[in-house]
Amino acid sequence: MTSSPPIALVFGASGQIGMPLLQRLRVAGWQVLALSRQRQAQTEDVRWLRGSFDQMPALPAQVAAVFGCGPLDHFAQWYADARLCSPRVIAFGSTSVHVKQASVDAAERDVAQRLRQAELQLFASAAARGEAVTVLRPTLVYGAARDATLTRIASLARRHGRFVLPATAVGRRQPVHVDDLAAAALAAAAARASHGHGYDLPGGETLAYCEMVQRVLGCLSPPPRLHRLPLPVFRALRVLARMRGIAGDLSDAAIARMGEDLVFDAEPARRDFGYSPRPFVPQAAMFTAR
Ligand SMILES: NC(=O)c1ccc[n+]([C@@H]2O[C@H](COP(=O)([O-])OP(=O)(O)OC[C@H]3O[C@@H](n4cnc5c(N)ncnc54)[C@H](OP(=O)(O)O)[C@@H]3O)[C@@H](O)[C@H]2O)c1
Repeated sequence: MTSSPPIALVFGASGQIGMPLLQRLRVAGWQVLALSRQRQAQTEDVRWLRGSFDQMPALPAQVAAVFGCGPLDHFAQWYADARLCSPRVIAFGSTSVHVKQASVDAAERDVAQRLRQAELQLFASAAARGEAVTVLRPTLVYGAARDATLTRIASLARRHGRFVLPATAVGRRQPVHVDDLAAAALAAAAARASHGHGYDLPGGETLAYCEMVQRVLGCLSPPPRLHRLPLPVFRALRVLARMRGIAGDLSDAAIARMGEDLVFDAEPARRDFGYSPRPFVPQAAMFTAR
């Protein structure tokens, strides 16, 4: 007798982490149910359900695992009241929960607070239901040409043939590839040691902000030039750029952060589910929207 494949329910499946996760689930033999607010093309291995956290379509009473790859606060709120049973729940949060908690920007502190509350709510709901939640917190995500940092930098640099950074942009970063995050979600789902824990998921290499940007520009063709300007000059340029509708959301907090080390420890994730992210080797396709 053959047993039917395990069912995974995936939220945020159309996102930059969700898409490679779908691919990995299919290869691993899962039957996938994926939720989207948009109409999506059905495939043999993935059944798309149309809906949102506010308007949830009919779901099975039981699945083997739920993956949350969309906004953590909406997911945590849904899970608190959900009727569906799932022994494993894997949800993506963000290292912004650490980074933005003491920001000078009130909106950023609010983001950190919402992420923190969502994590606490998830763990409390899971404990009450006798289920096991794992929260995964990526650092700066890249790889699918859909991220708001490196792809945006590449796009601006392509358009202008150059890119500018303040000379203070030397804080260390650990960009993480979307497919390493998808692999981590699947590995965590299978790892008992990850039950009830949250993990920071940095990329496999730590490098200065300016070096990270230089590598991105270096993989473009032709490679735009990077100019590093004294901070007051950079700030003055930002004023001019804003008058032309560029860099409107480049806040003082974001500029200050370029000089800060945002470095996280991959060891707990490596120990508990073999997390092994790749070094940062950018290629143009990673920053080119298809
Ligand atoms: N991007 C980063 O640099 C980064 C860094 C750290 C952590 N993360 C976290 O990693 C997770 C996945 O990131 P991502 O960039 O892949 O996510 P994303 O693209 O922002 O969102 C993933 C999907 O979630 C759905 N979604 C978005 N907003 C929604 C809403 N208000 N209600 C219901 N569904 C919504 C959308 O799917 P449909 O339109 O198909 O419904 C979207 O394609 C998120 O939890 C994010 O916070 C991201």
